[in-house]
Amino acid sequence: MLKGRAIFLTGGGTGLGRSMALHFAKLGARVFVVGRREQPLMEVCDEIHRNGGSAAFAICDVRNAAEVEAAAAAADQQFDRIDTLINNAAGNFMARTESLSPNAFNAVVGIVLNGSFHCTQAFGKRWIEQKLGGNVLNIVTTYASANCGSGFVVPSACAKAGVLAMTTSLAVEWAKYHIRLNAIAPGPFPTEGAWSRLMPSKQFEEHARDKHPMKRFGRHEELTNLATFLISDMAEYINGECVVIDGGQWLRGAGEFNDLAMLPDAAWEQMESARAKK
Ligand code: HXC
Ligand code: NAP
Repeated sequence: MLKGRAIFLTGGGTGLGRSMALHFAKLGARVFVVGRREQPLMEVCDEIHRNGGSAAFAICDVRNAAEVEAAAAAADQQFDRIDTLINNAAGNFMARTESLSPNAFNAVVGIVLNGSFHCTQAFGKRWIEQKLGGNVLNIVTTYASANCGSGFVVPSACAKAGVLAMTTSLAVEWAKYHIRLNAIAPGPFPTEGAWSRLMPSKQFEEHARDKHPMKRFGRHEELTNLATFLISDMAEYINGECVVIDGGQWLRGAGEFNDLAMLPDAAWEQMESARAKK
């Protein structure tokens, strides 16, 4: 499905980024992964090479526009031309907002919002000049929606909402250049990076799973399949869209009566028979 494609993927050394890199390579794409740590990037590239695929990496802190520009140039040189960008790199942690330092806020917003902008602009300007179009997929979150948000992860909520605004804005501004921008809003997908920072305890993890309408977290292949579809030629007319992939988790919190899911059958039966007697 992705034969001949060349993909620049931020945060491609770990978690969902790693899963996407391996999956895209399996489907024929050449993959250029970036991040701050060499080891995980090297390991992903080695694995892709062992499986007969094509991959390369560069150390790059996406907060730094000059580093992004250098990595974009290296990627273009490596694969002739990058045609797809996945803004997946992120920073996040849970904290009470009143205790955040300015630097803590900046650390997350710098990675998520500034980083996504740096990468998008670096490739957008190339694609406009080359007149060959391009494809951007931004990995956001379900709480990125401006009328949602989430307490205790306010820098991330602000930054992801900004990325979503960039997605919809540029989908229109750059459509005439055949550049598509879409987003995926994942619910909970177990990764070391997210779990170590956002899951306070085993008990909380069980509570989150139990509250989930499907009683399970996402599987990486479910997300990589969706990402593949959105960047593929099969989705050529999808532009400026954000697809939620969370098994109905955020809707579970939205419906006023959804907590009734906790009522045991016996309680329903009792209410029903009481109604029948009236
Ligand atoms: C409060 C914190 C903090 C915490 C760091 N800081 N952790 N403040 N609570 N838990 C503060 C520091 O004290 C510092 O402020 C500032 O943030 C920068 O911290 P550094 O460690 O110096 O920054 P840096 O090395 O750049 O690391 C950035 C990071 C880190 C975001 C803090 O966690 C990181 O590298 N994360 C990358 C991977 C990641 O976060 N993955 C999870 C993505 S999951 P001061 O003032 O002291 O200098 C995700 C999914 C969401 O997004 C949805 C899940 C369901
Ligand atoms: P992860 O493994 O921690 O992924 C984050 C990646 O970003 C890491 O590879 C990290 O590599 C890279 N990164 C961080 N700061 C960077 C910087 N300044 N420059 C370049 N790269 C940087 O977490 P994940 O769970 O897979 O998250 C992947 C994406 O999915 C994120 O956008 C996240 O918000 C989103 N998401 C995840 C979940 C979930 O449940 N897992 C839910 C919703 C959304 P280095 O540290 O080496 O730089």
